Amino acid sequence: MAELDYATTIPSDADTIIAAISGQPTAPVLQGIPDELADGLLTAAQLLGASPTAKTPTMLPVAGRRIVLVGLGEQPSVKSVTKAFGAGVRAVIELDDVRRIALSPGITDTNLLRAAVEGALMAGIRSLPITSQEEQPPRHTIVVVCDEELQATAYLAGVIANAVGTVRNLVNTPPNLLTPSDMVSEADNLIAKYDSVTMEIMKKNSLGKGGFGGILAVGGGSDNPPRLITLRYEPAKPVTPQAHIALIGKGITFDSGGIDLKPVESMVTMKGDMAGAACVLAAICGAAELELPVQITGWLAMAENMPGGGAYRPSDVLTMRNGMTVENYNTDAEGRLVMADALARAAEDTPDLLLDIATLTGAKMIALGTEPIGLFTSDDALTERIVTAAADAGELAWPLPITDEAEETIKSDIADVRSGGSRFGGALIAAAFLKRFTAGLPWVHLDIAASEWNPNAAHDFVPKGATGYGVRTLLAVLRSYAGDVKGETH
Ligand code: BES
Ligand code: MN
Ligand code: ZN
Repeated sequence: MAELDYATTIPSDADTIIAAISGQPTAPVLQGIPDELADGLLTAAQLLGASPTAKTPTMLPVAGRRIVLVGLGEQPSVKSVTKAFGAGVRAVIELDDVRRIALSPGITDTNLLRAAVEGALMAGIRSLPITSQEEQPPRHTIVVVCDEELQATAYLAGVIANAVGTVRNLVNTPPNLLTPSDMVSEADNLIAKYDSVTMEIMKKNSLGKGGFGGILAVGGGSDNPPRLITLRYEPAKPVTPQAHIALIGKGITFDSGGIDLKPVESMVTMKGDMAGAACVLAAICGAAELELPVQITGWLAMAENMPGGGAYRPSDVLTMRNGMTVENYNTDAEGRLVMADALARAAEDTPDLLLDIATLTGAKMIALGTEPIGLFTSDDALTERIVTAAADAGELAWPLPITDEAEETIKSDIADVRSGGSRFGGALIAAAFLKRFTAGLPWVHLDIAASEWNPNAAHDFVPKGATGYGVRTLLAVLRSYAGDVKGETH
């Protein structure tokens, strides 16, 4: 990621300035440009197509520097501002001589300023080349131009963008290089700088003793054995009362479908099936960085879903962590099994909220498309809270119901529950299944299937490949439980 710096005025050594055009299309207003540079700029920019509603940035040279103007839209929102500055950075990032970018959004609203900085930083994240062992130093510095009291907001944006970068790197890593045990090493490295975060690992033996029948079954077909990773974050400065949030992430490092093997086209992106676990890991590091006053327990349910002699089968009956028996419907419905075990274990600590995130169902992708998160909750008050937090974070969480039909579908003749049963409403069925493992606690389920991956060309702040989608919502929810939804205090 680009380095982040702050200044109260545009530094003279900035080679690039990114500023904004706001207002009505008929009455555009330059934002973030000092008077000495503004003269004639708006007219010139308009000749090149610049306007508050322009979809693409306008770049023009002024006194030997680049000025990039982005349109904030008629009604600037977290999302439009994130996109605008993402596109602004994307327009210059590949130019050879770009080193110091002055980001001068001329914005004082904290949420929108955060959005501007996040968009700029997210667009500038370069995924690490697989072949290079060493992390390269950042090539760019983004200098946020804002009043001193807003620097904390810019800092917060930096932490959030960094979390997005972490998720992207993990999701982009090929599945032979990121097995469940590799994820343990990655987590170990990432938490090393935080005394407030500790980790415990469960391997096959302890998973067996603990009765984690779902995780063991799913991992059974692979030579890369499963792991349940627990991350605990305790704030150095606790508060009372203090919320305890459990985050549970699906960590299938490769989903071949198992014995119910996936067709070729569906399998190609399945290294990303650990995006939920990556989001949980990155969110906990972000919370530790921000020293959020909440207690967090993270559960990364790691396994590789492969066919093999030890693989579980359709129609197997499994005994899960909470003692329930599950009739397995399809070995490609593996996510709900590892998540069910992890949810059941997380619930044993009676946290104030169980918040799970998983690339769970192709049905979510069919229902909502790639971007929106499918949102399921145990009660309506939570729906409102999460929808708001996601919007605040610039993401979209869309509520879906757990219907009687879905509950009916998972009835089994030979076990307590069946892991599926129909293609219709598949996201709802998976959610109905997970709910059985939440012990009646407040619970939120985020289905991010297909949101984790952009198969198309890069646009604004979204690269080709891993998107990092979901982690911004997790951090927003954590911050809301820490009583800090706006970001003024961090
Ligand atoms: N990992 C997939 C879901 C998925 C699909 C994620 C597309 C990202 C993009 C999941 O494990 C899966 O295979 N689900 C099946 C369940 C079915 C067999 C009940 C599905 O949705 O088809
Ligand atoms: Mn699957
Ligand atoms: Zn899967």
